[in-house]
Amino acid sequence: MHVNPQVLSNSVALDGLPEELGAELIKVARTRPVKAGAAIFEAGDPGDGFYALLEGSLRVLLRAEDGEQVLAILSPGAIFGELSLFDGQPRSAAVVAAKASRVAFFDKGAVFRFADENPLVYRHMLAIVGKRLRASNATLAARTLLPLPGRVAQAMLQLAELFGKDVGQGRTLVHHKISQADLAAMVGAARENVSRVLNEWKRDELVSRVSGYYCIEDRQALEALAAI
Ligand code: CMP
Repeated sequence: MHVNPQVLSNSVALDGLPEELGAELIKVARTRPVKAGAAIFEAGDPGDGFYALLEGSLRVLLRAEDGEQVLAILSPGAIFGELSLFDGQPRSAAVVAAKASRVAFFDKGAVFRFADENPLVYRHMLAIVGKRLRASNATLAARTLLPLPGRVAQAMLQLAELFGKDVGQGRTLVHHKISQADLAAMVGAARENVSRVLNEWKRDELVSRVSGYYCIEDRQALEALAAI
């Protein structure tokens, strides 16, 4: 199905791409629904184009036999699958739907034809790759320099940036159902240890649970824990 550009521009902006450019680019896209839990692609698959997330949420994963590393969680508007487009290598990670989602696919040939005529697209893609590299650096530094509560605080604040809703009195509801297993896979720790940190935070009123979502009650305390 081809995307109606009106529908796209009303719902999501493509990761910082200027609106007119996004509306033009979307004309070469095809959308498809993705069921919760389904993989859009696996690490090692050929890179045949890039995607944008229109609705839902996705997990970027590195899978191993005995577990998985969650590299990122993507919210609507996110662009992904751009790395293999540019370096010509296979997909660097798997991307799996965290819940029922809808994605737009941009075929490699069409993207390059469009971007060669509109080089601003490359500038924005570079900005996206740069942002990811910075986030990876921050995660790497946290792994080395912070004890577990700091790493969990960093992950919780990243999620709040993506899915946070201000619910007044300095509180932020993280409007994304995140399991302790996912948090553990984000920070590279055992689930039991992450669970212990979260229970302490609940007891000390740094976070609470509201209808199955985490709510940040004391952002300053989490920021202090996450500071390097
Ligand atoms: P690609 O390698 O084509 O396929 C996997 C995609 O996951 C990759 O492009 C990026 O879009 C995305 N990705 C890989 N690593 C990260 C990361 N550290 N943070 C966010 N997204 C990533």
